Amino acid sequence: MYYPEELVEEIRSKSDIVSVIGSYIKLQKKGANYMACCPFHNEKTPSFSVSQQKQMYHCFGCGAGGNVFTFLMQYENYSFLEALRTLAERAGVSLPEIEYSEEAKRASDFKGRLLAVNKDAAKYYFYQLKSERGKAAMDYLKKRSLSDETIQKFGLGYSTKYADDLYKYLKRLGYDDELLGQSGLITMEEAKGAYDKFWNRVMFPIMDVNNKVIAFGGRVMGQGSPKYLNSPETPIFEKSRNLYGLNLARGSRKNSFLLCEGYMDVISLHQAGFPNAVASLGTSLTTQHARIMARYVKEVLITYDSDAAGVKAALRAIPILKDAGITAKIVDMKPYKDPDEFIKALGAEEYQKRLDGAKNSFFFEIEVLERNYDLNDPEQKTRFYNEMAKQLLQFPEELERGNYTEALAEKYKINYGSLRKLVNRYGAQLEPIQAAQTVLRDKEYKKKKGPEEWLLRSQRLLLTRLVEEPETFGRVKGIISPQDFTEGLYQSVAEMVFEEYEKSGAVNPAKIINCFEGKEQQVEAAELFSTQILAPMDEAQRRREFADTVVRVKQSSLDAQYKKAVEQDDINAMNIIMEKQKGLGKLHSSLNPG
Ligand code: UTP
Ligand code: MN
Repeated sequence: MYYPEELVEEIRSKSDIVSVIGSYIKLQKKGANYMACCPFHNEKTPSFSVSQQKQMYHCFGCGAGGNVFTFLMQYENYSFLEALRTLAERAGVSLPEIEYSEEAKRASDFKGRLLAVNKDAAKYYFYQLKSERGKAAMDYLKKRSLSDETIQKFGLGYSTKYADDLYKYLKRLGYDDELLGQSGLITMEEAKGAYDKFWNRVMFPIMDVNNKVIAFGGRVMGQGSPKYLNSPETPIFEKSRNLYGLNLARGSRKNSFLLCEGYMDVISLHQAGFPNAVASLGTSLTTQHARIMARYVKEVLITYDSDAAGVKAALRAIPILKDAGITAKIVDMKPYKDPDEFIKALGAEEYQKRLDGAKNSFFFEIEVLERNYDLNDPEQKTRFYNEMAKQLLQFPEELERGNYTEALAEKYKINYGSLRKLVNRYGAQLEPIQAAQTVLRDKEYKKKKGPEEWLLRSQRLLLTRLVEEPETFGRVKGIISPQDFTEGLYQSVAEMVFEEYEKSGAVNPAKIINCFEGKEQQVEAAELFSTQILAPMDEAQRRREFADTVVRVKQSSLDAQYKKAVEQDDINAMNIIMEKQKGLGKLHSSLNPG
């Protein structure tokens, strides 16, 4: 930790979790908590819950959870310090300047150093492009109709023909081999020494949303393989989370994004006056990409290549976008291969017409499906209609499904009633599967997950209950102690909970989470405060359930102690423990009288 604990806690307490998370995703008040569809996994019904009282969030679906810091760490992929700085700024708390030694600074900010290397490399490539050595590269870009302004805007560059030009330059700037190797720009080999990864290529810097260069793509000029070479993944470059052009597109004030396949598509579109073009580079679209886009727009126009691979990629992207709550439409670029070629051939105005005529993603899916069938053959036609009916089931809402059924019936001249019947028949087959996905009840939980996990769950339930209802602490005081929690992390958390209660009579779970450094530990600790009973219960049931839980936790702890006493041949301890075990029945009835 670089900042004093009190300062961290001050920033946390000034950053109300509901308003912070609410600025990223739409929260809906439900009882004491706020609910939303989880931003960390795909789902249609909300299981992501934010508690104002606990100042924590938790997803019952995927287990993500934590306090306001962990949220930013998970959502923005920030380090703890980045999250702290962001929230400090938001809360108007000024952070003291911390004096680091040169050494400490370097060690503390590895990501910062990688960013610095990339920035210097980008400047170097840009300079080379403008120099005499870069003439061929400049000619290449000009031949591809890029203006000086566009080249400047995207910071394009050139990596020279010399094998270690960049390496020497970066060394002169004082970067060490270790860092350069990790940057992905320099390849370090025992035998050959250090040499540049990119060699005689046109360079495309890849920027994050804050306009920081985090990686590069390099294209051969003309023919050659591979056509594009990209930086490997590094601590600052995760392909699955980064979209080329997003740094510009996010500020474009358009209510949709144009999703393309490549560097040149994005650049051409921007140059032609479409500042909302983005691309997922060298990787197919991921759920993270989709969620990131969903922060800015509700609609994405897919403008992938018009070849078979592009169609396949579009079919893959549609459900991913839909799951992120985005409406997807498909842009037809035929007879041209990609947006870059289309614009070059027909110009921006024609492209805009194609955007206006972009096809509803469901109709696109059905049209692609149709290509597999010969509709003149009654048998194939029937099979096609059956597939179509199954596809209609992707709309869970009856009204929407009905509208699409009607539209398809109209389009393919099918009797509406017959198509609807077919849809309903497939729907009926589907329902039992969905019903089976409901939550497991207590006993089933034990059966399914095994006795150990069941016990851990009891411990989590107990901790959650203690934190949520302070009066329960008085009821278990003297009965349960932190040592009754079997896992290391559980025990540390219990120690803090008990200590806080003794000290102040109240517990601040969000503060406890700060005591853990790693993201995983924080998430796990958060889970200890967010475990809920599976079935709804009335007051009496809740009381009994609480007594069951306390006794179960105590019993297993006593069993473990007994085993140890046996191992150590400690008769005295064995007797004491046996007495306590006999008292468990009484304990249960005292916790659940009547
Ligand atoms: P394309 O082959 O469609 O290239 O690859 P392009 O974007 O049309 O590029 P130009 O017009 O030929 O210059 C689409 C994207 O896939 C990635 C790149 O991000 C590229 O922009 N790709 C392609 C690679 O990473 N490596 C490759 O070898 C090829
Ligand atoms: Mn192209």
